[in-house]
Amino acid sequence: MAVPPRYPLVLAPTPILKLDRLSAQLGVELYLKRDDLTGLLESGNKVRKLEFLVGEATAQGADTLITCGTLQSNCCRAVSAVAARLGLRAVLAVKGGKPEAYDGNLLLDRLLGADIRYLSGAEFERVDEALADLADEVRARGGRPYIIPESGSNEVGALGYLECAVELAGQIGQGAPRFDTVVITAFSGGSQAGLLMGKQLAGLPSEIVGVPIALPADRVRDSIARTMVKAITRFGLAIEVPKTIHLLDGYQGRGRAAVGDEELRTVVQLARQEGVALDPVYTAKAFAGLLDTLRKDPQALGQRVCFIHTGGIFSLFPFRAELSRLLDGEPLFSA
Ligand SMILES: Cc1ncc(COP(=O)(O)O)c(C=O)c1O
Repeated sequence: MAVPPRYPLVLAPTPILKLDRLSAQLGVELYLKRDDLTGLLESGNKVRKLEFLVGEATAQGADTLITCGTLQSNCCRAVSAVAARLGLRAVLAVKGGKPEAYDGNLLLDRLLGADIRYLSGAEFERVDEALADLADEVRARGGRPYIIPESGSNEVGALGYLECAVELAGQIGQGAPRFDTVVITAFSGGSQAGLLMGKQLAGLPSEIVGVPIALPADRVRDSIARTMVKAITRFGLAIEVPKTIHLLDGYQGRGRAAVGDEELRTVVQLARQEGVALDPVYTAKAFAGLLDTLRKDPQALGQRVCFIHTGGIFSLFPFRAELSRLLDGEPLFSA
């Protein structure tokens, strides 16, 4: 089957910047690829996935995008933004009760006009059924639904990060450093699966390393391999699932939405040292894992390391109380 049409949404190529002070401290060359700047309301990694998911949706004549996630889901916010941009409807199944006041991503979802359905924890356990029910509801009113899985992580969404690897190979070809390693945050691993596919297709020389921030490493590896197999089978890609899928394990903390001081300190550190905001739930956990790995062995990932910043900045704001406490305490960072 042909690859779905790509609906152009991403402001690409995203810039690559060197983190000068951190590089000097760690004794490596550390870079950020700013996928937090992909556009469409700073939609981060999701908008790359959505280029293909929405391409498929519009090719099928869909008028309503349905997806799911946590109350502060970046995917739900990105889907809401894309739907508003394209004149489609967005219906979101979110885990949790309706809060008294909207905040962060949820505030943006509402601002962008998404129709939000609040699911209890038990209902969210069977979220696939909830999504199918919502699709039936849309059909019953004469609409045409298209379901996007949580985090946009299937073989279609992964094509967005296949393209990111192609973009990165092109940037290296035009003078960007030849990175030994490219590091990316992994929840489902869909983005990493895409990078691993693009690496082979575009001849990207860098090792691709993921940092699981919630799920056990084995589950992330399985999910990456399954996504790649589906893409290879469905789209006839001339690539293989690599024998080793590299992950930096042990940085999951207490789970996805449970943010600890270490992540918040990392957010503050990068903001103060380099003027870049990470998000506490995803990128700060992964970046903290990367820093820990490099502090233990500066050459563990080679001399030139690029971290892909996958966005998520709006979930900083719901952590205002924890951050305020931290910022008003003892000096957090002096260098
Ligand atoms: C900001 C951010 N970074 C990284 C990820 C992880 O992406 P993936 O599910 O493709 O591993 C997500 C989504 O879950 C995210 O919102």
